[in-house]
Parts: sequence; C-alpha cells; structure tokens
Amino acid sequence: MILPKGWWIACLAEELKSRPLRVVLHDIPIVFFRNSMGKANAVLDRCAHRNAPLSAGHLEKDVITCPYHGWKFDGQGRCVAIPHALISDNQFQIPAYTVKEEQGYLWITSSSKEARFQFPNLSGHQRIDYHFFVNGTWDQVIENQLDMLHTSVLHDGWFRTKQGSQTITAEVRPKKDSMEVEYFGEKRPSGLFSKILSPTSGELKHIDRLFLPSVTQVEYEIGSFHLLITTFVSKETEYRSRCFTRAFYRLWIPRWVIYPFFMLGIKTILRQDQQLLEKQSETLKTFKRRHFVSTPLDFYQRFIQENILMHQLPTHSPLKNETYQFKI
Ligand code: FES
Ligand SMILES: [Fe+2]
Repeated sequence: MILPKGWWIACLAEELKSRPLRVVLHDIPIVFFRNSMGKANAVLDRCAHRNAPLSAGHLEKDVITCPYHGWKFDGQGRCVAIPHALISDNQFQIPAYTVKEEQGYLWITSSSKEARFQFPNLSGHQRIDYHFFVNGTWDQVIENQLDMLHTSVLHDGWFRTKQGSQTITAEVRPKKDSMEVEYFGEKRPSGLFSKILSPTSGELKHIDRLFLPSVTQVEYEIGSFHLLITTFVSKETEYRSRCFTRAFYRLWIPRWVIYPFFMLGIKTILRQDQQLLEKQSETLKTFKRRHFVSTPLDFYQRFIQENILMHQLPTHSPLKNETYQFKI
C-alpha cells in the first residue's frame, strides 16, 4: 500500500474538517483525519482487525475509532486500544503516510525525500483556483491538458478554429524531470475567446510544460494578455482523476468585467474535455487494453509513457531536443 514516489495532492486543505475524510489515491483508499491540534494525519482506510473502513468511524481526540468493534488507531497507524481486551499493548499496525498542509492543499507521500511541487505565484496577476474530477485515465488527462492539436477540433470556435491553416513550429525540450514544448509563429487564433482577450492581432507566445510527477502547465501571451495555468493531476483510480488548478492571468479588462466570461470559457472547454475523456475511458474499458498509435506531433506521449506510466518503450534512444513544423 505504498504510493508512487513523490508528493501527491490528496484534496483541498479545507475539505478536511472535524470528521474523517476518505480519499482514494492511486487505487489506495486512505482516511485523513485531524488530531486535537488540527494537524492532518493519513492512514490506510482499512481496519487491521476485519478490514472495516475507518472512514466510517469517528474521532476521539487524537485517534480514529473503527465503527465495527471499536479498535482505535493513532496518526502513525498504531492500534492504541482494543475495547474488550484486558491487555492494552499490541503489535497491530496499519500503514500511515506523511502529510503536509501547504499551498491550500493536503499533500501526501510514502517516501518524503523529494520536494513538493511549488505552484508559481505571479504578482500583478489575477488568480483563480479551481478543481475538478475527470472520469478519465490519469495519463490521458495529463496528455489532454498539454495536447495542442485537439484544441482546434474539440474546442472549435472557442480559442482556435478548425479552418486554421497556419504553419507553425514547435521546439520540443525534454529534461530530466520535466519537458516543455514552445510554439513559434502562430498568429492570434480566430476563436471567440482569442478575439476578446486580444482585440488586436499579433503573434502568440505559447509554451506547455510537464513537470514530474504529474503537473501540467500551459502558458499563453499575446499583447497585454498573459495566462499561466498550472494543474496538479492526481490519480484516484484507473479511470478517475482529480485536477487541482491554479490559474494566473493579466489583462487590460477589469476583473469584474472579464471574470464571468473567463469562467464560462474555462468551464465550457473543461466540460468538452471531460466528456471526451469519459467517452475515451469507456472505449478503453470495452477493449480492455490500449491500442494507441502516435505521430511525432504527439509530443508528450513518450515522456508520459516512460516517466509517468513507467513503461520502457522498445526504443532506447533518449528523448532529445527536436523541432517540428505542423499546420494548425
Ligand atoms: S473491523 Fe475494525 S475493530 Fe473490528
Ligand atoms: Fe482541451
């Protein structure tokens, strides 16, 4: 019951109140609870005795009590009391995890040596935080957020449009723990969102990044408009992921004017992605196994396969800096 290497966002810090909270991460059910000082703890959501879920139990000071026979566990996962036993010391233990409350989230790890991802903080920008579930597989949710090519098809008319015929260049830059793709030569797209955000035409500055363990970042700049959207993608189960997003934008229009439109655009685009990823998951479930093919323009797929899904691909040549031209 060990989480993959690294720190994972389990939930918003404010979601954990005075009752136990069950969160599934990487297919592992985990129960979070606060002790009497408010410090968050996390242990496996499975009582050592007969495996009842501790999240259905209740808190007593610093321990969580199982709803079935009342065994009590502390934040380190040690069984500290068994109601009917005459002797109090026992060896029973359930797995416990290290938890940190930071940047508005509860972070969890099984091996705490790595640093937690630090969300950027842009002064002079407006900030919007949001979070959402996707009934999509973890790697496909990550790829979707970084995949430029679908934006002119699935989101036709919002940002880019289908009939675009610009030839642009992508510079692909894989690194040890991250990868970025920078696009050059794209004129302001002709979708509605683009026209409102940047009334005058010009060239778009666009960089997408992927940081391990599973953080996507999309950056756009045109004229006075600047947008940086960073999303931590947590895997719940094979077909369900949760995204924690922090977006910063700078724009000439006052926030109260642009905010409703901005959120409408974000929600519409997210809904389109969510619906598509859910349908894709259904297909993956039906066929039981994947049968993907890719072109060199699926820039992130190999990095995701090798570094996130941990599948060594048949080719052993290292990923390297490359430049591609394509039409959008
Ligand atoms: S199952 Fe938890 S105390 Fe028996
Ligand atoms: Fe999308």
